[in-house]
Amino acid sequence: MIAFPKGFLLGAATSSYQVEGNNDNCDWWEWEKATGHERSGDACRHYELYEQDFDLAKELGHNAHRLSIEWSRVEPQEGTFSEIEIEHYRRVIRALKDRGLEPVVTLHHFTNPLWLVKLGGWEKQEVQGYFLRYVSKITEALSGDVRFWMTINEPLIYVSHAYILGVWPPQEKSVRKAKQVERNLLHGHIRAYNLIHDIYRKKGLADCFVSFAKNMQAFVACDNTILNKLAVYLRNRFFNFEFVEQAKSKGSLDFIGINYYSRSLVNAKKVGFHDLFLRTAVDENIKKNSLGWDIYPQGLYDLMIKLRKFQLPVLISENGICTSDDNLRWEYISEHVKSMARAKSSGVEVLGYLYWSLLDNFEWDKGYAPRFGLIEVDYKSFKRSVRESARKFAEICHSGVINNDTNQ
Ligand code: BGC
Repeated sequence: MIAFPKGFLLGAATSSYQVEGNNDNCDWWEWEKATGHERSGDACRHYELYEQDFDLAKELGHNAHRLSIEWSRVEPQEGTFSEIEIEHYRRVIRALKDRGLEPVVTLHHFTNPLWLVKLGGWEKQEVQGYFLRYVSKITEALSGDVRFWMTINEPLIYVSHAYILGVWPPQEKSVRKAKQVERNLLHGHIRAYNLIHDIYRKKGLADCFVSFAKNMQAFVACDNTILNKLAVYLRNRFFNFEFVEQAKSKGSLDFIGINYYSRSLVNAKKVGFHDLFLRTAVDENIKKNSLGWDIYPQGLYDLMIKLRKFQLPVLISENGICTSDDNLRWEYISEHVKSMARAKSSGVEVLGYLYWSLLDNFEWDKGYAPRFGLIEVDYKSFKRSVRESARKFAEICHSGVINNDTNQ
């Protein structure tokens, strides 16, 4: 049995665009319209229903909630901020605090205001200045109520999907642009980190904790060849750890936020970029989520152990499964929480665990079919129904204890 210490964060995560609805002033909205992808539309109507959703989170024993601010709402035109929208997010944060939920606030979760896109988006160095102005405005507004900040969600997923694979807006396939975007995201983070801390110091507020949410995958070799060992090393280095190392070397990480979902089975057959970095094998014998991603709880433990070298606390800022089988959801949650707890017992300082996601929501280019929620959403009536897996997770949240050996 492992007991989590007092103050250990247990809860769930969401992002503005995926749950709020009608974020019609950003790149994703336009992209869905232009490409014929499923439209996000009303999403979960969380923009209106957030109090009801937070009531459920509280009832389920959560003491923390990760959410994101929609940049395109609070700065609808370049340099013009909407006090009404900023006030909305103040109310959202207070609604969390009133219910005893610690807010973990993400400043950028994949979407960009349309005006920013017209000015060149994350490709142009100027984006760093625009981002800082927005970060400054939001930090000034919310600092009194927020201790945990995440500047950018999954920078490398944004870079790879939007600028290399070309499957997300702006659908570029350019290594040169991808490199510029990655650089701007890194420097945007470093500068935002310093700015947020400056604001807290200037205001005489108790210190805050700033990081980003870094996607991490377990890379496992499909056989024991030297080539596959090399490929695992390279993928770990470039996809999992390099961005963290760069931020850490600038002293701009107070903890490491990791988003962990699955395993990638590394299958390099010859020397060359594609084989060393991208080639994978399929293992039919491992359980998968409804998008076909391998379920591999051991990977969370292995990654957390590798992260010890950074000597920083770790927050599991996302971990979750899309499935129509709620028993599988519970198995996924309990096995991953156990994995995290084992890493904690092995000396990793862990701040908390946030399940993705509180609600079923809009899964980007995959639309509404994947169901990640602890809470089911009926997209016609917007009725919420708490899943059995959520109730079982609630037992951990309420008791602060996970039974490590039984199938709790
Ligand atoms: C993202 C979420 C997404 C989830 C499941 C993460 O990559 O931060 O926005 O919905 O994984 O794919």
